[in-house]
Amino acid sequence: MFASFKSIGSYIPEKKLTNFDLEKIVDTSDEWIKKRTGIKVRHIANHDQATSDLAYEAAKIAIKRANIDKNDIDAIILATISPDYLCMPSTACIVADKLGIKNIMAFDISAACSGFVYSLSIAKSFIESGLKKNVLVIGAEKLSAITNYKDRGTCVIFGDGAGAAVIGKTEDKNEAILDVMASSDGKYSDLLITPGGGSKYPASNETLKKEMHFMRMAGNETFKIAVKTLTEDVIEILRRNNLTSSDVDRFIPHQANYRIIEYVRNKLDFPKNKTVLTVAKYGNTSAASIPMAINDAYENNNLKYGDLMLLDTFGGGLTWGSALVRFALK
Ligand SMILES: CC(C)(COP(=O)(O)OP(=O)(O)OC[C@H]1O[C@@H](n2cnc3c(N)ncnc32)[C@H](O)[C@@H]1OP(=O)(O)O)[C@@H](O)C(=O)NCCC(=O)NCCS
Repeated sequence: MFASFKSIGSYIPEKKLTNFDLEKIVDTSDEWIKKRTGIKVRHIANHDQATSDLAYEAAKIAIKRANIDKNDIDAIILATISPDYLCMPSTACIVADKLGIKNIMAFDISAACSGFVYSLSIAKSFIESGLKKNVLVIGAEKLSAITNYKDRGTCVIFGDGAGAAVIGKTEDKNEAILDVMASSDGKYSDLLITPGGGSKYPASNETLKKEMHFMRMAGNETFKIAVKTLTEDVIEILRRNNLTSSDVDRFIPHQANYRIIEYVRNKLDFPKNKTVLTVAKYGNTSAASIPMAINDAYENNNLKYGDLMLLDTFGGGLTWGSALVRFALK
């Protein structure tokens, strides 16, 4: 028995934040942002929308497309770095309640931009061990809530959104999640960090004054490690599955920066028409970025049943990972 990627859905908030809007807020330019990141627009949730609201909308679509009753879902794993509440309850529990699914395992995981791939790894194990039958995996972020719109090094990059997938079981290897790799190195934990509000620096007037509740990023150092790790990940997962780049139908990398994707794509010989690119229109949506990209490819008829997807991700922690997944939505 194999775990299988049965469906996909996403939610993109209506409100757009363009590079031209950002020009009015911080010392930046459309030209700089496009040249250095490839981003043109990102979407921003309304004030009254929390991460669980975005996740709920994406989840509804994924469940409908999976063609299962919502009560057949027996676990929800939600990856986010912008949960509704900092410590508890988990956003996954809130989403379960919004969906009207009772008495199931529901929890959040924190692996930053790698959260969706990490969640896939857990869902795969749950299914293959027989512990669960249908796992709803969600990547959802309201990053605008933790972005400092005075910091041009981060605010031009991040956006909001959610993506969700139902992971079920199959006997057919042509519908299987073939492999997931996930790893980390805490030595670099301060390259991408939201320092305030946790047990190290509990929320206080001082943490507020120092704006420690916002994300901070050492962009350039992160960039250098990202290109290296993303490339090595792909080489390793292809090697251990006896595959080459040409066996992959869709290369779906974390949408952090167009230049990072281009570097990895060229290094690994993925043609542009096999590479899913959404960074220009959504920016970096952290844990939501890969499922949003999968959904985008699906809705644009760029991904079909049986296609072999290679997911590749990198994020705060530092964390990274990759996955070889057959798309099993008919
Ligand atoms: C953030 C990022 C776009 C910055 O691009 P970069 O080419 O590395 O730019 P640098 O940080 O070296 O800065 C170059 C210059 O641009 C300036 N700059 C930074 N942000 C700017 C902005 N939004 N607009 C205009 N200028 C900006 C810097 O101040 C610096 O100026 P200086 O040369 O006078 O000191 C890039 O580093 C990046 O994408 N990093 C990785 C992000 C990532 O993968 N995160 C992990 C997953 S979430």
